[in-house]
Amino acid sequence: MGVGIIGIGHYAPDNIVTNADLEKIVDTTDEWIRTRTGIEERRIAKDDEDSSDMALIAAEKALKSAGKTAEEIDLILVATVTPDKSFPSVACMIQDRLGATNAAAMDLAAACAGFMYGVITGQQFIEAGAYKNVLVVGVDKLSKITDWTDRNTCVLLGDGAGAAVLSSVSEGNGILSFELGASGKGGPHLLQKDDGFLYMNGREVFKFAVRQMPESCMNVVEKAGLKKEDVDFLVPHQANIRIMEAARQRIGIDEDKMATTIKYYGNNSSASIPIALSQSIEDGKIKDGDVVVLVGFGGGLTWGAVALRWGK
Ligand code: UT7
Repeated sequence: MGVGIIGIGHYAPDNIVTNADLEKIVDTTDEWIRTRTGIEERRIAKDDEDSSDMALIAAEKALKSAGKTAEEIDLILVATVTPDKSFPSVACMIQDRLGATNAAAMDLAAACAGFMYGVITGQQFIEAGAYKNVLVVGVDKLSKITDWTDRNTCVLLGDGAGAAVLSSVSEGNGILSFELGASGKGGPHLLQKDDGFLYMNGREVFKFAVRQMPESCMNVVEKAGLKKEDVDFLVPHQANIRIMEAARQRIGIDEDKMATTIKYYGNNSSASIPIALSQSIEDGKIKDGDVVVLVGFGGGLTWGAVALRWGK
């Protein structure tokens, strides 16, 4: 038996903030944002909509798509760097609201690579025989730590949540290989400052990402005993279309074989990969038997990639 994703769902707030809206609050242009990042609009949560509210909706959708009840979940892992509070965890909050009374629950923080860390942590519990069903959620409300006067960061970010249910799947399907990594030395390039706001040295993070994303993609393909030609679909962290292109070109697949939700959602941090994966499933871009590579990087610095064969 393998371990795979048997259900997935996502949620983004209704409130759309366009590049034209941002032109009114910082010194930027729609043209600069589109050409440098690929972003045209992003979703921003209302003041009374926190990470747990978004996580709950994505989790409910994932459970429905998996055909599992909340009581069947053994463990809830929530990847987030913007929990409602430092404790109780978002995982505990949604455990209660879902009615997942049999589930252990905890948050984990690996910024934009958080969902990758969550999926691999969940996989280990299932492979070890400890748990049957693990709910992994990636959620962030970056808008609450965004400095809306800083054009270097505020144009890039958006709020949202994505969730997946992991369970055992037939031999040959599910997770084929993974890579997780961290470089704490790079921490100062992307962090939450003492004033609470997010700071990013965009150029340094860009340099790291254009090197790491393609390398991690190739590493998981090789670890899975595959060739890059075997990859059917790529789901990269949606940080910048130019970084995503570097990964796509290294794998050598067509543009329509890469998830690109960045245009509509911006960078959703921990939620970016599950939103992009869920949207791709919804759009019918991934079919059973496809080899899919998920790859992300983020603050920490952290990175993670997974090669999997889609299907139960
Ligand atoms: O989730 C992981 C974290 N984030 C990322 O992955 C982001 C990684 N970095 C990037 O995506 C890119 O570095 C950015 C999109 C942040 C910036 O793009 P860039 O092509 O690397 O631009 P740059 O940093 O080299 O800046 C070029 C110019 C600068 O002006 P000067 O110093 O050349 O006069 C910036 O001040 O663009 C300026 N600039 C802007 N201009 C208009 C920076 N932000 C803006 C803006 N509007 N919003």
